[in-house]
This record gives sequence, C-alpha cells and structure tokens, in this order.
Amino acid sequence: MGLIPQNVLDDILDKSDIVELIASYIPLKKSGRNFKANCPFHHEKTPSFTVSPDKQIYHCFGCGAGGNAFNFLMKYERVEFIDAVKVLAHKTNVMLPSVEERLPEESSFIKDLYKINELAASYYTSNLLNQDTGKPAHTYLARRNVSKESIVKFRLGYSINAWDGLLKYARQRGVSPDILNKAGLALPSSKDNSFYDRFRHRLIFPIFDSKDKIIAFGARVLDDSLPKYVNSPETPIYTKGRHLYGLNLAKSAIAQADYVIIVEGYMDMISAYQGGVENIVASCGTALTTEQIRLLKRFTNEVVMVYDADQAGQMASLRNLDILITEGLSVRLVSLPTGEDPDSYVNKFGGSGFRKLVENAKDLFSYKLDLLLQKYKKNTPEGKTKIVSEMLPTLSRIPNAVLKSSYLKKLAQDLDIDEEALKIELQKVRGAYSYSYEPDTKQKLDSSGVMKVAERILVTLMLEDSKLVGNVMKELDYEAFQDGTIRKIVKVLYDFYREGKDITPNKIISYLDDESSPELISELISDTHIYNDKEKNLRDCIKWVKHSLLKDRLKILQTEIRAAEVNNDHARLKELLNQYSTLIKERNFICAEEKRSEN
Ligand code: UTP
Ligand code: MN
Repeated sequence: MGLIPQNVLDDILDKSDIVELIASYIPLKKSGRNFKANCPFHHEKTPSFTVSPDKQIYHCFGCGAGGNAFNFLMKYERVEFIDAVKVLAHKTNVMLPSVEERLPEESSFIKDLYKINELAASYYTSNLLNQDTGKPAHTYLARRNVSKESIVKFRLGYSINAWDGLLKYARQRGVSPDILNKAGLALPSSKDNSFYDRFRHRLIFPIFDSKDKIIAFGARVLDDSLPKYVNSPETPIYTKGRHLYGLNLAKSAIAQADYVIIVEGYMDMISAYQGGVENIVASCGTALTTEQIRLLKRFTNEVVMVYDADQAGQMASLRNLDILITEGLSVRLVSLPTGEDPDSYVNKFGGSGFRKLVENAKDLFSYKLDLLLQKYKKNTPEGKTKIVSEMLPTLSRIPNAVLKSSYLKKLAQDLDIDEEALKIELQKVRGAYSYSYEPDTKQKLDSSGVMKVAERILVTLMLEDSKLVGNVMKELDYEAFQDGTIRKIVKVLYDFYREGKDITPNKIISYLDDESSPELISELISDTHIYNDKEKNLRDCIKWVKHSLLKDRLKILQTEIRAAEVNNDHARLKELLNQYSTLIKERNFICAEEKRSEN
C-alpha cells in the first residue's frame, strides 16, 4: 500500500462488485439482503460467511476473516496487496500509474538493497562451491548430512575467513562499502573510516521473503565458538519478526497439507525439508509475532509447534501461544525427547519418523492440561486453582463454542470440580477478550473488557453514521483509544471526516495496511446489533473511554509520586500532586455529569 494513490483504489472499489467477485470463486446463496456461503477460509458445515452488497464487504462469523474486495483476493489467492490491486484493476479496466515513476528515489534505494543481497548471496555460494575456499564449510555440511540439493535449494553459502572478502568482491562490481553497510553486510571500523565484513568464516543462510527475495542473512560458526549465529541487523527491507525462515519454499506444501510445522532453527527447517517434510518454517529462536502469524494465515489455519525438552515444560512459552488462538488458529504441540532438536531427530529417525511425531501432536488444551496435571496436585484446592487459572485464559480464547464447552466439561471432570463454577470463572476471564455488549452494567465501568466494548461501539457507530464522527472527534483524540487496531481505524475516520470525504467502510479499509483492521471493521458492521438510541450510546461510551484514560493516568501519577517521595524530590512532588488533584477534579466532574444524566 502507499504506492498507489488512494483515488485510484477508490475508483477500483467503486467499479467492482464484491458479490460478483466472490461468486466467481465460491457459490453464494442469497439470504435476506446479503449472500451466504461456507467459508473458504476454514472448514465448516453450516455457512457463516456473509457478503454484503450494500456495504461491499465480506465477513465470516466463524473464523473472523473479513474485509473488502482487495482483502478477499489477498486471502483467497494468497497474494499481497499490490497484486490484489492489479487483478481488480484489470477486471475493472482501471489504469494503474507506474509505481516506479511515482517514487523514484525510495524505490531505487530499496531495489539496490535487494540487488546487493543477491550479489552477496552469489558471492557466498561461489565461495562454498569453490573447491579450495569452500572446503571448511563443505566438510561441516557433510558432517551434518546436508545434501547438495539442499545447499542449492536454500542457497547456502560460506563467508571466507577474511575481513574484506565481500567488500573486495563488491567494490570490483562498483558497490560501495557505504551501501554494504546500509544493507547490514559491512560494519564501520572504529579506528579509521574503513569498513569490514560482518560475516566472516561462517556458513551463510540467506533469509527470503515469501516472494523469494533475499532480505537478510543468518550466519553460523563452523565450530563451537560463540556467538553461534550472527544475523543481519534490521534494514529498510528487513524487520525482525516479520518473516519466517523457509516460508518461500514451504508455502505451497503448507497450503496443500493445510497445516504448518513451526520449528526454531535454520538447521531444523533444512533437515526436515530435506527429509521430505516440506510444510515447515523456522521462527529463528524467538517468540512468534502477530505479523508472522498473519503471514501463515494466508496459507493455513493449523499450526503444529515442535518444542524441545527444555521448552516443553515452560508455562511462559505456552502462554505465548494464546495469541495464536486469538488470531483464529488451531494449535497443536509436540515435544521432543530430551537432548534432541528437530534436526537431530530427523537425522536419527528420518523425515518419516519426524512426520509421525508431528501427526501425534496434542492440541494446546490437552497438552497444557497434561503438563499442569504433572506440575500441580489436582486433589488439593490450591492445585485445582492453579490449574484452572492457567487453563482459563487459553479456554476463553477458543472461538468455537462447541469446542470450548466440551473442553470445559473435560476440565471439570479431570479436576473433579463443578462445571457451573468453572463457567462462572470463565465468564470473569472472558471480559478481557470478548465483547458481549451490556450497556447498563455501570458497575463494570472499570474492567478493561467494558473499555474495549465502549471503543468498539464508538467505532461501529461512526462507521454506520458518519455524522457522528464529529461528535466523537470533539471529545476524544484518536490516541485516547487503547486498542491498537481501533486506534488506527479511528485515525483514518478522523482524517476522512476532516477532509470531508464520504465514509464508506470498504474504502476506509483500503487505507489500512494491516490484516486486523479490515477484519475488525467487517466484523463490527456485519454485527446485527441495533443501537436504539445512538446519541446516548455514543455519550456513554465517550464517558467510559475518558474515565478509563483518567484512571490510567492517575495510576501512573501515583507511581511517580511514590518515586518522588522516595527520592525526596520536593519540587517534583509538588508538581505531581498538583497534577493529581487536577485529574481528580476532572474525574469528579465526569462522575457528576453521569449522575445528572441518570436522573
Ligand atoms: P539453536 O541454538 O537451537 O540452533 O537456535 P540450531 O538452529 O539448532 O543450530 P545448530 O543445529 O546448532 O546448527 C535456534 C535458532 O535461534 C537463532 C537461530 O535462528 C537458530 O537457528 N539463534 C540461535 C540466533 O539467532 N543466534 C544465536 O546465537 C543462537
Ligand atoms: Mn540444532
């Protein structure tokens, strides 16, 4: 996004019809004003996928997928935004301006970075393929059973044991040290203004984006010295946590198998892939990010995490997996025997042995429960409480109600506790994640769950009735919204309003370049909730948001006040106490107003 002018995007949306588009891929059935279908993005027997001709958006109530025509194409065809735009521009006969013409400087710099990465990769491979220079790396790869074919597939390479191997190679081809530095391949020397190679005497793993372009490198020592791996720093074309190693090679196998195996290391991915297990990616030793999850969701909704024995028992790493569930993925886990990682396991038991292991993965719920049952005593009240408090956050995120209730039953049985009691506890946890709208429960004013509800209602009302945007804008800065996705949407709504543009959800969507915004917008406006007294709802929600902001600020102030007291910083303390009393006044004012409007 960003490269194509918005008016062109708007034009394409105006000329296309989402019903016609989606009907060309899957059969749609008329249902009231809308159309229904079995969702193409998750397995289901009764249709929860709806397409609205009025709003020009689609939404699945089952898996949460949703957005405008561009989003549908991106998800269905598994292409990036720009390509979805091209397809639809072609269908609607809209001419696209040439991208290069518009942003010559930036795009040529970015292009240069890709070119330099290519150049470096071919230098590293030529080192590896050369009988003499490549010897140490060859011996190492042979010892680790990496085949010739894998070397070529993964474009593995070797950086020779010198300070200026790449620098020299690049200079001969007219590439300056400065740009090698910008690409993360060379570093400035502290002594003079020369540079030296970042990667020396290491095995090189180029890291590709999903379109096969090299965006960075990982580099491993050939012995036991440290650090084991050196990786590229972030550059304009590489942001850590936005990519997954091996996805470029694995994506079609992932789509075909309809699940993805996630391992940690470069070598794990390569060994398994070489062993015929091709639906696999490596997270490169860090916790999964939302961006990586969204990347995977273009290909499948099922994930199998492979843990080594150290990680397997760690609650912290399991808690991290709750975000996968929040993102609508189904998660299974498998842990390896002590001392093994996927690479060593494949070397011992072959790709088929590894595949078998993966096929026996347990779902996150059972995995976690088994682990907790080993850790805590289920026949003591404390043990039960511990187990329940770890399980409920996971449980509360499971979107499928049937599944959730059957897990709940199992948990109650396993722990020998009353199912109803468990349900009540679940309700408490749920506040934070789900949004059943309860307008008159003022006592819940403080819970973050209600905050989210308030923010969601405000956005919904603004999307449905653009006149209301002005009312909200007067009262709340967009930064007052706590939820990141909502904040982004509100910012665009305000911009539209200020510029006097028509507020149509499907167009708002094309101003937002993440995946969660389109899904949230389509979810909010597909919801059939009817707000009777819009103005009153609006006022209430604005109050809730203000109230919660004040509360947060008060909390922060309290900590600062305590710190100032400890440090005996009287001047600061005085200033903070002043701020505190102003905020308290403000809060009292809002509360008084609330009382007035109730009477
Ligand atoms: P591991 O230590 O498990 O390495 O780290 P590995 O992939 O199994 O490598 P081998 O088998 O010893 O050759 C897992 C991943 O964490 C990242 C790398 O992406 C690695 O593949 N890592 C690890 C680093 O980035 N830097 C390090 O120093 C270590
Ligand atoms: Mn390993």
